[in-house]
Order: sequence, then C-alpha cells, then structure tokens
Amino acid sequence: MILIDDRIVPEAEASVSYLDRGYVFGDGIYEVIRVYNGRLYEKEAHYDRLVRSAGEIGLSLPYPIETLDRLLQDLLGREAVGDGTVYLQVTRGVAPRTHAFPPAGTKPVLVAYCNELARPLDTIRDGLTAITRPDIRWLRCDIKSLNLLGSVLAKQEAVEQGAGDVILHREGTVTECSASNVMIVKDGVVFTHPADHFILHGITRAVVLRLAAERGIEVREIPYTLDELRQADEAFLTSTTMEVTPIVRIDGSAVGSGRPGPVTRLLQEAFEATIG
Ligand code: PDD
Repeated sequence: MILIDDRIVPEAEASVSYLDRGYVFGDGIYEVIRVYNGRLYEKEAHYDRLVRSAGEIGLSLPYPIETLDRLLQDLLGREAVGDGTVYLQVTRGVAPRTHAFPPAGTKPVLVAYCNELARPLDTIRDGLTAITRPDIRWLRCDIKSLNLLGSVLAKQEAVEQGAGDVILHREGTVTECSASNVMIVKDGVVFTHPADHFILHGITRAVVLRLAAERGIEVREIPYTLDELRQADEAFLTSTTMEVTPIVRIDGSAVGSGRPGPVTRLLQEAFEATIG
C-alpha cells in the first residue's frame, strides 16, 4: 500500500504526475524512518528534521505532524511490518515546468510507503570496506533533499570497485558517506564532522553521540582529514538502515587491526539496547 497525500491506496493505483517537481527538479525532501517491531524508531527526531528541511527550502508541509504521524501509523498497521523502513517524501507539487516556485496554492505532494528490511546483522558483525572520493555535492547537505545525484554517483563507484561504501571528503576534510555519517576513533576518542551544512544531521549519529557521552567516551565534533581517517584505530558509519557499521578497510588498507574495534563494539551494544 502507498500513502499519497491522505489516501492509502494499492500500489497499482498509486501514481504521480510527470510534472511533479520532485520528478522534474528533485524539488522536495524526504525521510527514511526505521521500524523495529512495528514501531517507528526516533520518530520525533525524524519529524523535526522533516519540518526543518521543509522550512529551509520554503515548502509548507501538507499536514500538521500529528496528522502525518496518524497516516504513517495507519500505513504501518495495514502492512504489518516487523523490522523495516518507512520512506516518506514531500515535493513542491505539480506545476508547469519553470524553475521558480509554482503559484501560491500549489499543493505539495506527499508519498510514503513501508518495506520489510531486516537488520544488517552480517555487516554489523564483520564490517565493510570503503573507498574515498571527493564530495561533489552541494553546500546544503544538512537539508534532506531529493537531489541525490552526488551520492548516487559516489555510491556507484564504490559498487563498481567492490567496496561497501564511499567516504566523501572536501579537499581532504572527511564529511560523511553516501547515505550515512562516519566517525573515527583515535586513542579512545570519537571524532566526527560537526553538524553544519556539509553533512546531514543524522539521527543515528545523534543517538550514538548521546550514547558515547553517557558511557564516558570522549567525543569531538570537529573536522578531521583523510590522513587522520587512514591512521584511525577504528572507523564506523551510522545510519537509519545500517545502524552502527564498522569500516574495516579503506582504499585497500586495514583500519587499525582490520577488525571491528572495541569502541565500535561498545557503541553497537549501546545502540542495540535502544531499539528495544
Ligand atoms: N540516509 N548522511 C546522509 C547523506 C544520508 O543520506 C543519511 C541517511 C545519513 C544518516 O542519517 P540517519 O541516521 O538520520 O539515517 C547521513 C538514508 C538512510 C537514506 O537516504 O536511505
């Protein structure tokens, strides 16, 4: 079933105009929310980010968050998802193609659906490999925009090279991965790029930083370099779908021992305890 605006319809009946500005310009925003045991994980944080993204691009959401939440709960109930995700996007609506905003009164288009998705237990256990690439995306990566071409091209390079993901950098400063945040551990201290306009303010990132602080692990939200990444004792990525996933090789070289490290393991266990 698909949620379109305020209607839940079978997939065969779900269609969006070819003039939808999401389709034509990528003019819209999205969220991916985790579902654990049929419940939306950290939903308030996702709703807050959705509202913020909408505000930053001057898009008015079609419904108050309470209504949106009720619609998503209905959708989840219909699909009986156990562990999965909800994908939700809102575009600036349907209008003749012209770059400036469409006329006042153009209705935003909301689409959402859910999928069953098991937790990625193998990569959580064993970690994955990554390559590094220049971050060619725009300068408002804090907005969860539908424009993902920079991420798509980077991730495709990783796939073609047989790597699990790609770590992006701007002139040697590590930002994030194609669809996740990245952290390193050096001498017991966790480093991650500050939550500014160069990265998405990941919700898993925020949970992990909170958990680290609660456990007395020092965290520094400061930019770090590709060299520091390569010399790290541990590295891991965080996202809604990947949770806390160790990165064990970067550009062909082992990170630390080449095995998921102790701080990563500790944060994984702490994270696991939050998903109930
Ligand atoms: N991606 N950075 C980027 C560029 C992302 O696209 C994502 C999420 C994250 C992690 O954010 P969070 O912890 O809130 O999921 C960081 C989602 C999962 C996606 O596009 O599929």
